[in-house]
Amino acid sequence: MTRLLPSFLALSTVVLNAVAQSQYLLGLGIADITGPVVETNMMGYASLAQTDSGLHQRQRARAFIIGETATTANRVVFVNADIAMGDTGVRRAILAALATKYGDLYTAQNVAISSTHQHSGVGGYLENLLPQITSLGFVKQTYDAIVTGVVLAIDRAHASLQPGSLTLGNTTVTGGNINRSPTAYLANPAAERAMYESEGGDQDKFMSLLSFGTRGFLSWFPVHGTSIYENNTLVSTDNKGMAAYLYEASVEPNAMPGNQTFVAGFAQANVGDTSPNILGAFCESPGQPYDGQPCQANTSTCGGTVEDCHGRGPGFRLDSFGFHSNEMIAQVQVDAAKSLMSKSLAPVTGTVRSVHINLNMANHSFVLPNGTTVNTCPAAMGFSFAGGTTDGPGSFDFVQGDNSTSQNPLWDIVKSFITPIPSAAQVACQFPKPILLNTGYATLPYPWSPSTVDIQMFKVGNLVMIIVPGELTTMAGRRLRNAVRAQLISDGIIDNSAYVVVSGPANTYGHYITTREEYAIQRYEGASTIFGPCASIFPRPRILLNALQSPLEAYIDKYTSLVPFLADSPNGTPATDAPPPELQSSAISLQTGVVFDAAPIGKKFGQVLIDVANTAYKAGDTVFAQFVGANPRNNLRLEGTFLNVDHLAGNVWTPVRSDSHPSTIYQWTRVSTILGTSNVNISWTIEPNTPAGTYRLRYFGDSKPLIGSISAFTGTSSNFTVA
Ligand SMILES: *[C@@H]1O[C@H](CO)[C@@H](O)[C@H](O)[C@H]1NC(C)=O
Ligand SMILES: *[C@@H]1O[C@H](CO)[C@@H](O)[C@H](O)[C@H]1NC(C)=O
Ligand SMILES: *[C@@H]1O[C@H](CO)[C@@H](O)[C@H](O)[C@H]1NC(C)=O
Ligand SMILES: *[C@@H]1O[C@H](CO)[C@@H](O)[C@H](O)[C@H]1NC(C)=O
Ligand SMILES: *[C@@H]1O[C@H](CO)[C@@H](O)[C@H](O)[C@H]1NC(C)=O
Ligand SMILES: *[C@@H]1O[C@H](CO)[C@@H](O)[C@H](O)[C@H]1NC(C)=O
Ligand SMILES: *[C@@H]1O[C@H](CO)[C@@H](O)[C@H](O)[C@H]1NC(C)=O
Ligand SMILES: *[C@@H]1O[C@H](CO)[C@@H](O)[C@H](O)[C@H]1NC(C)=O
Ligand SMILES: *[C@@H]1O[C@H](CO)[C@@H](O)[C@H](O)[C@H]1NC(C)=O
Repeated sequence: MTRLLPSFLALSTVVLNAVAQSQYLLGLGIADITGPVVETNMMGYASLAQTDSGLHQRQRARAFIIGETATTANRVVFVNADIAMGDTGVRRAILAALATKYGDLYTAQNVAISSTHQHSGVGGYLENLLPQITSLGFVKQTYDAIVTGVVLAIDRAHASLQPGSLTLGNTTVTGGNINRSPTAYLANPAAERAMYESEGGDQDKFMSLLSFGTRGFLSWFPVHGTSIYENNTLVSTDNKGMAAYLYEASVEPNAMPGNQTFVAGFAQANVGDTSPNILGAFCESPGQPYDGQPCQANTSTCGGTVEDCHGRGPGFRLDSFGFHSNEMIAQVQVDAAKSLMSKSLAPVTGTVRSVHINLNMANHSFVLPNGTTVNTCPAAMGFSFAGGTTDGPGSFDFVQGDNSTSQNPLWDIVKSFITPIPSAAQVACQFPKPILLNTGYATLPYPWSPSTVDIQMFKVGNLVMIIVPGELTTMAGRRLRNAVRAQLISDGIIDNSAYVVVSGPANTYGHYITTREEYAIQRYEGASTIFGPCASIFPRPRILLNALQSPLEAYIDKYTSLVPFLADSPNGTPATDAPPPELQSSAISLQTGVVFDAAPIGKKFGQVLIDVANTAYKAGDTVFAQFVGANPRNNLRLEGTFLNVDHLAGNVWTPVRSDSHPSTIYQWTRVSTILGTSNVNISWTIEPNTPAGTYRLRYFGDSKPLIGSISAFTGTSSNFTVA
């Protein structure tokens, strides 16, 4: 019997495959990708002032491998990373590392690095100059953390490969998002908007979820990772990383964050014009008559300027950095995922396929159905780009006035390479966008924006993931999904069960992609549709008239043209442009390394400076201690922690909280640059239902002497009890 059973199982797998591929080889893995948590600019808001000072939650990469059981050839790797956006250089390094380990198993074609588009992670990892300006150039430590962590997540997913089945479904998410540019959305044709009135109107309100059974899931729901405000300086993951933590912790409450076996994937979708600040945008203008009033709708201004206009999340009154709103927006996503995971969803059946090309979007030409040839344009940012959004007003210090630029030494270096004056052809090409930064022509000291983007799709049975190199707005996402779905069905690749999701910003950051009509309005999203109006998403006669016509614009043109390569037996491989140039070797980096650490005279590293205040606490209290610290940039403690809360069980101290529990906060403060001294604050806000007993706080640091090597030390608070 024991010998017969496995062969019976193997036989039934073969039989099932022959009928329809419904068994897949599945692997899931998670790893830490947190860069330096202090003295480094944060990525997302592009605010020079947002330099990190500690840790709220570690950033993670979650890898999902789906393969056919009969062959290693047909396999896809989807990575959902807690970062602001995918990047060409990061992707290149990940693919190189995978090639060394796995040969041609995991390649540019079948690996997608998608981002949660969160705005509270560590910055400096992107390859192009523009997103590096506020981080004072390239930060190799951040880049290395992301590359090694993503590869580790894929290694773990690979090591966990085993047969299983997949199911797919969707549900409505209530109170999870709002449109932050509704007046641009209104420019889309009324007939088209009317089709979506019952489905959320100016936002997609549904979550799609691919269930891996008891092992985890991958879900998509569009909402910006801007719940935590730009004045926060603790490294975190925003609402999608928080949702993943909450879900994983609910399945395995006793495992440390990131050490669970159940992997919850909350991926980003057509995020462009979404906001988690669902109460709307209001003026924060103390002393002004419009203080507390909604911002002017079309321009998102208060008294004529953008600075005071801020979106508000559902927990706006509860704290000033958005942490409560963050948990609330995470929770609605968790609730939606739980309701789907508790249902029996439709089985996924069919082959696994992938397609990828490089597309140079600077002056890419294609033919419109009326026979006119049009071109995309070299990248350019419009004036409204500088205005930012209600989630983070006024991006990039250099547009806030001539004087403010002098705070930024990188800007002082690159301003001599100020973006070239746009040619008449570029002005005409980008029309009606007024050009602020002509980044597509700015190649000194190295390119400011990408020109070549990754165009990629995965097919898993009847599910197709469109992996997009940017932020599609709600309507742009719908047009792209509909066009690809119609093409899949008309080409006979999938029947009417074809289910299409958009995922990104992934692989490389081509900024925003609006509809043609939204582009004309030139709010932030239109101003940031860098490759011009033909890169935006045209109205689709196919959608409006329900008739199949040739694709109308660059992205739809490209994605739909690649659909045949998702067939069970694809005919050849698609034409591709040259891969984007490698820029990292010429990167400027102005961030200085750690010089040295020292403890104050008469004290030791890790020594308690302020001990826990009491010996007895209860749920809801915050326990606090301060230690003689050292710079955490000396050792990122990836896969580890800067702190523990230990619980005394019998005679043994057992760690029960790490630096990734949202109830704990790690903060580092430099005391003296000259003396090399610093302090570390550790706090734990005791959760309800924490078991009564004896506890202590621990701090794990690493110090760098002026001469010699970095060494680890620990600090320990006094014991205290929780009743
Ligand atoms: C949700 O799933 C149902 C059933 O598969 C499908 O009919 C519907 O189109 C899906 N909704 C969206 C928005 O994809
Ligand atoms: C604001 O935008 C709406 C929708 O695009 C438009 O109808 C209206 O005229 C605009 N209002 C102003 C004052 O520009
Ligand atoms: C992670 O989980 C494994 C297996 O459950 C366990 O052996 C290990 O100690 C855990 N690591 C941490 C840091 O909790
Ligand atoms: C942080 O920013 C939010 C949003 O603008 C604001 O409401 C809050 O008062 C700010 N908090 C602090 C401490 O400045
Ligand atoms: C073709 O369509 C485009 C976009 O609508 C338009 O700009 C162009 O003038 C049209 N060309 C002809 C020859 O009608
Ligand atoms: C700063 O800007 C103001 C207003 O534009 C100008 O009057 C002043 O001279 C500038 N200061 C410096 C140091 O550039
Ligand atoms: C794009 O290339 C065409 C020639 O193929 C040229 O006529 C046009 O001026 C170029 N556009 C821009 C914006 O450089
Ligand atoms: C650390 O704690 C001390 C004492 O409570 C406090 O004065 C200081 O502001 C804290 N540091 C940070 C960065 O919050
Ligand atoms: C804390 O508790 C442990 C275990 O009971 C004990 O060994 C240690 O002496 C206590 N520490 C202090 C400072 O009381």
